Amino acid sequence: MCLAMALQLSDRMASVSYEIRDIIARAKKVEAGGRKIHYFNIGDPNSFGFAPPQHVTDAVMAALSDKKYSAYCPSKGDPQLCDAIGKIEGLGGEDVTIHSGLSEGIEFLMSALVNPGEHVLLPSPSYPLYITKLRILGGGENYYPCDSEFVPDIDAMRARINGKTRAIAVINPNNPTGASYPRKILKGVADLAAEFKLPIIADEIYDRLTLDEGHAVNMRDVASPDQLLVSGNGISKNFIYPGARVGYLAFHGEGIGKLRDAIVKLCNQRLSINWEMQRGALAAFTLPESHLGEFRAALRLRRDIVHKRLNEIPGISCVKPKAAFYSFPKVEAASFKDDREFTYSLLEETGVLVVPGSNFSPILGEKHFRLVFLAQPSELEEAMSKLDGFMRKKPKS
Ligand SMILES: Cc1ncc(COP(=O)(O)O)c(C=O)c1O
Repeated sequence: MCLAMALQLSDRMASVSYEIRDIIARAKKVEAGGRKIHYFNIGDPNSFGFAPPQHVTDAVMAALSDKKYSAYCPSKGDPQLCDAIGKIEGLGGEDVTIHSGLSEGIEFLMSALVNPGEHVLLPSPSYPLYITKLRILGGGENYYPCDSEFVPDIDAMRARINGKTRAIAVINPNNPTGASYPRKILKGVADLAAEFKLPIIADEIYDRLTLDEGHAVNMRDVASPDQLLVSGNGISKNFIYPGARVGYLAFHGEGIGKLRDAIVKLCNQRLSINWEMQRGALAAFTLPESHLGEFRAALRLRRDIVHKRLNEIPGISCVKPKAAFYSFPKVEAASFKDDREFTYSLLEETGVLVVPGSNFSPILGEKHFRLVFLAQPSELEEAMSKLDGFMRKKPKS
């Protein structure tokens, strides 16, 4: 008997997809045919030439040459790092857990909160990892819409809460839209969550990457002190170090201990995350964030190019991103069946690789795409000209 034929995968594998990466296989085929590809699909600043601050990599190097850090780290994280993050979050180190990227934190939170059929209320559009994790757990799906500026609609959020809702997720600043929410909206979410006694999951992984003003508003600064709140953050984006895989969860509010302890249990079963990289994160969170001015200026320059050019293209409109490095334009042209057809033909005809918007929400409709604007300004200009030429060839209605 052929052993390979006997191998069976679990049914849950059918729910695992991640088009932001899956789409690369399609791009590679087009590239093999000789076309230059503009990889605007993934939010990894380092693959576009950006680098972590020197003091962060220096701290990693120092840890690599110190034998102490080749051991298992305490499973909830390096104690000094937990304390340092606790200070930022207004907590003690005991209320912080360190993860292999915020991705792991998100996975643990979903596992700890959701039984089959239950859900975390997600924004539409949302970062796809939340959607996939809930699907793997057999969770239900429930999304709250955002308005035309991609800001959450509090009344619609209220209408979506039901007996199966276990938490409300807020991604601010937002991937995929680049929105950064006003304080008033965040306060509205906090009040609503308090009314329904639901925990808030505040994903703030882009909080230092606002493009027009200071630091984004953190949920911890608008929530009442006793409110159940888990803040998530890390060094992948704000500190330009996605390969380090260090993120954290911070547990706020009276009564959150039960959830924190569940997450610590999940940390224990995976023993430890990479200790040397956590020492880099300690430098990131304790030394001056001197890289941010330059990084944000580079992002602002790119955002302004893409925003201007996109809105000059017939059939495309785009809300101005206020933070991070994503724009989420809308395609009005009637000549595409849906966002997938648009994305695939754009790739094949021009080499511009973007992600279909429906990956970020099943309720959003099929008219958006996500474009990452981390490339050099000259490459962005080149790609915008290609997109412009592509759209001008398409019938308007
Ligand atoms: C909104 C959001 N949350 C979480 C993550 C995961 O970050 P990490 O690299 O820390 O796992 C990302 C990564 O792109 C993200 O965009």
